[in-house]
Amino acid sequence: MWSRERRVSWRGRLLLWCVLVAAWELSWGQLRYSVPEEMQKGSFVGDVAKDLGLELSALRGSGAHVVSEGRNQYFSLHEKTGHLVMAERIDRERVCESAEDCVLRCEMIVEGEMKVYAIEVEIRDINDNAPSFRDEEMQVKVSETAAPGWRFLLRSALDPDIGRNSLQGYELSDNEHFALDVQTGKDGWKRPELVLVKVLDREEAAFHELVLTAMDGGDPPRTGTVLIRVIVLDANDNAPVFSQAVYTVRVREDVPLGSVLLTVSATDADDGMNGEVNFSFEKISVKASEIFHLDTETGVITLTGSLDFEEGDSYELEVQAKDGGDHTVPEDSPAGTVVA
Ligand SMILES: *[C@@H]1O[C@H](CO)[C@@H](O)[C@H](O)[C@H]1NC(C)=O
Repeated sequence: MWSRERRVSWRGRLLLWCVLVAAWELSWGQLRYSVPEEMQKGSFVGDVAKDLGLELSALRGSGAHVVSEGRNQYFSLHEKTGHLVMAERIDRERVCESAEDCVLRCEMIVEGEMKVYAIEVEIRDINDNAPSFRDEEMQVKVSETAAPGWRFLLRSALDPDIGRNSLQGYELSDNEHFALDVQTGKDGWKRPELVLVKVLDREEAAFHELVLTAMDGGDPPRTGTVLIRVIVLDANDNAPVFSQAVYTVRVREDVPLGSVLLTVSATDADDGMNGEVNFSFEKISVKASEIFHLDTETGVITLTGSLDFEEGDSYELEVQAKDGGDHTVPEDSPAGTVVA
């Protein structure tokens, strides 16, 4: 139904055109105006009456009106003044998208004179859009073992304006670890890349916050920003460190079995399993191993056999602390020595 009606109406329009062309005088390309986008409804576009040499008095009674090509009526004729004015606000980016030239056509029909005047209106770009990033925040994960020169392609900003009013470049906030490299592709597309310039250390800072700013070339320029949250991934670059190099405890030989003699402790600056510590006896005599028990996870040393001063007045136990990661750097953890 719809398409049939439409076809009929198209045919009707074609017929009308034939009649117009035959009987009416058609003037092409006589009038061309240029206005910036985003002008208010009613804004002046051009003095068509003057430019066509039409008397205002003649225009008023002549049933003159303006018809735009296409569905939207962007322009209208102000009868009193003979001015072509905006019938609605125009957003160049919406009407013409990314086209370099945005020219809208309309016709002024003066029925009394049986004339049609073709009018072209160029819509100029204004810097009504700022560059913008899709998200407010980007996350970048970098291992603390990444070497300088390591790169990460960042998401680009978009600015629908054209020419200088469109995206011109990027800037990165001051920081000591990263620099910005912007490559321009064949299509003119600018791609911002984060480049590592100084090795990261998660134990020093597990996160870094950078601000990437995109700028256009308008006057004044407009900008858009995105927060880049750099997450430094842990490598097992730290060995556990004991709270003391030597733990000494003196006990009486009649101390009951099961007594806690002392607790060794060690810390590891790494993250997750890389920072979890377990303990074990490193060097221990068979006899001592029957007397002392070390809890792997807590570092608590308890008495499991009886002490006899006559059999031994001192025991030296070496405890090793080990983290749960695979070491990427040589193990150099100092083992703590327990003297009981
Ligand atoms: C510590 O020992 C416990 C119990 O044997 C084990 O489940 C855990 O994975 C160990 N952790 C590390 C860091 O080796």
